[in-house]
Amino acid sequence: MARSDPRPTAPVVNRPYSAYFQREVPREDEELTHVGPGTPAGEYLRRFWQPVCLSEQLKDLPLAISIMGEALVAFRDGEGRVGVLLRHCCHRGTSLEYGMVQPRGIRCCYHGWLFDVDGRILETPGEPADSKLKDALCHGAYPCLEYKGIVFTYLGAPDLMPQFPVHDVYEEPGVECVPFIHKVDNNWVQTEENNLDPVHSTFLHSRLSPHFVPTFTRVPRIDWQEVGAGAGVIYSCKRRLENDLMWVRMLHVFLPNESHVGTVWDDGTKRLYFQRALYSRWIVPVDNEHSVYVGWRHFGAQFPGGDRALCGIEKIDMEGQTARDSYEEAQRHPGDYEAQSAQRKIARHALEHLGRTDGGVALFRRTLRKAIRGQSPAALPKPAGNRPLFGKPTNLYTEDSVLRIPVGHGGKNDWDLMGEVGDRVTEIVIAGDRYEGPERIATITRQIKELERQYQ
Ligand code: FES
Ligand SMILES: [Fe+2]
Repeated sequence: MARSDPRPTAPVVNRPYSAYFQREVPREDEELTHVGPGTPAGEYLRRFWQPVCLSEQLKDLPLAISIMGEALVAFRDGEGRVGVLLRHCCHRGTSLEYGMVQPRGIRCCYHGWLFDVDGRILETPGEPADSKLKDALCHGAYPCLEYKGIVFTYLGAPDLMPQFPVHDVYEEPGVECVPFIHKVDNNWVQTEENNLDPVHSTFLHSRLSPHFVPTFTRVPRIDWQEVGAGAGVIYSCKRRLENDLMWVRMLHVFLPNESHVGTVWDDGTKRLYFQRALYSRWIVPVDNEHSVYVGWRHFGAQFPGGDRALCGIEKIDMEGQTARDSYEEAQRHPGDYEAQSAQRKIARHALEHLGRTDGGVALFRRTLRKAIRGQSPAALPKPAGNRPLFGKPTNLYTEDSVLRIPVGHGGKNDWDLMGEVGDRVTEIVIAGDRYEGPERIATITRQIKELERQYQ
């Protein structure tokens, strides 16, 4: 049942020197931002497989991790199996981060209890030989899997566990998925919604700090829409470039915390048709005030720029994502890390004054709220049941195209023309769902080229 909406609205104080009237800091929007067990957003996030660490982080020692306020430990045993267990030993509570990884399972350092990757207790060596204690209980464990160098865990109710969300781009020929993980020092919502705010690329990443290629300095026309019946949100971002070129960029966010981002290196001087996502990432809450970005940087001959050596543990080759080396450097060259962590650890929506270019942020919050409240059936993943864990890949709408579209074609206002071309590219990309794999890519690419020809 939908609850009444208790959110306050921002005060509008239209007079100079008015801080005295604007001092109050209201509470955060708890329904969207709080992630602990039993919270609305926390339980929604738990319906999805979440990436929690990289495979390469699991060597001979256990790894203490915190996900959505839960203290966990991840490890890889001698048989190569990965376990994600509640961090505190079910005997007398010491942390399994000090445990010994064993040929099979992990042994608590305190009294030597041995736990398998699924939480079964294999040994309680200090207990009498005839003790039945180990068979009477299990230590808490979550299901996990590894895929392309990332460990994913499912923290939800066991009978609701969904299939793993494979997307088309991961399996494309010639694409290498290079995993990365880095800290984000704020609540997850403000970082996820940032994906739908491409105007910040014009200012933060281009005009004010030169992170991206100069093409991003152009102010774009942006349109947003829900997709997948509320399971996701896309933007279509259009920039007018030199020589009658128009850059049409789409970004696809899947609820709740998954996004796929295109190039930040193409300079818009050459034509491009349906270039795929360069980044696939999840913003995973550590707790209400901290998160980690985990995902893959996609490399391949078809993608420009970047540096594979800059992608991995606490590093990524997109400028401005990780903390600067010093406070002065952060002040001189702020990036996403600074801008978002400085929105307060949990941004206060009730103090914001949203404009036209914040349409994606507002849409994401509305879409997320509906999903959390159970009002969008399509935004709830189906339990895998008897189906295989890895199902058919789903399609990403993320793309970059640079098309030759004469300025003011047909006597149109160019801003309207950008909207028209963007809408048609969006239609082509979404309608491409009728096809699969290479046929889909070929069809969409051909149709975008045909669209371009219609404007000559
Ligand atoms: S606290 Fe872990 S075995 Fe005793
Ligand atoms: Fe950014």
